Amino acid sequence: MEILHDVSIEVQEGEFVSVVGPSGSGKSTLLYCLAGLEPVSSGSVSLVGTDIASLSRSQIARLRRDQVGFVFQSYNLLPSLSVRENVEMQARLAGRRVPRGEIDASLQSVGLESFGNARPASLSGGQQQRTAIARALVARPRVLFADEPTGALDAVAGTEVIGLLRQTVTDERAVVMVTHDPEAAARTDRVLVMRDGRVHREMVRPSARDVFRAVEHAA
Ligand SMILES: Nc1ncnc2c1ncn2[C@@H]1O[C@H](COP(=O)(O)OP(=O)(O)OP(=O)(O)O)[C@@H](O)[C@H]1O
Ligand SMILES: [Mg+2]
Repeated sequence: MEILHDVSIEVQEGEFVSVVGPSGSGKSTLLYCLAGLEPVSSGSVSLVGTDIASLSRSQIARLRRDQVGFVFQSYNLLPSLSVRENVEMQARLAGRRVPRGEIDASLQSVGLESFGNARPASLSGGQQQRTAIARALVARPRVLFADEPTGALDAVAGTEVIGLLRQTVTDERAVVMVTHDPEAAARTDRVLVMRDGRVHREMVRPSARDVFRAVEHAA
């Protein structure tokens, strides 16, 4: 089944892009395709400068592990590991030896410094979400994809997480974030409005009100 149609987008280093649109419009699918998690049936995807069609499955896996961060809509934490171990493992997989202090700093940056030893199942949805964000950031990906990273957070925690993502967008990094929150989208550089599997509109630094209206119009 074809889910996305005629999508052509480019994200540059140093850009913070958000993807908005009604439920079922293809936002998560777009992120999966861009991140090499879902193959495309036609067209091409270039990830960190490499056409992924030219890579084997294991090469794609390696590229993702080393250069790409992904915060899933459903968090995907490993239940048998503690919060700290979940964060640590991702960096290890990416071949980074992370000093203890850095893990502490990343937990602190998402407000989870006192939850390092907790198991994911004992955390609230928002705390699990923040663990997933710390885990993705600690590996220092060139590009971070985040599927509704503030979906389970209250307004204050959500604002902090957007600030954190904003900070990670340095010259060598990019963040692509799906969100339902017009306020969050308005804090990004560019907003893609999806509708029925297409990029229906693209807005540069819009106001939250403009994003809200555009999503309403796309529904
Ligand atoms: N694995 C799949 N197989 C078949 N269809 C799928 C699959 N995943 C998603 N779809 C369909 O693709 C469309 C887009 O789904 P997608 O999850 O990308 O939407 P979304 O914009 O992220 O929605 P939401 O805001 O609810 O998360 C939907 O119609 C969905 O039913
Ligand atoms: Mg989705």
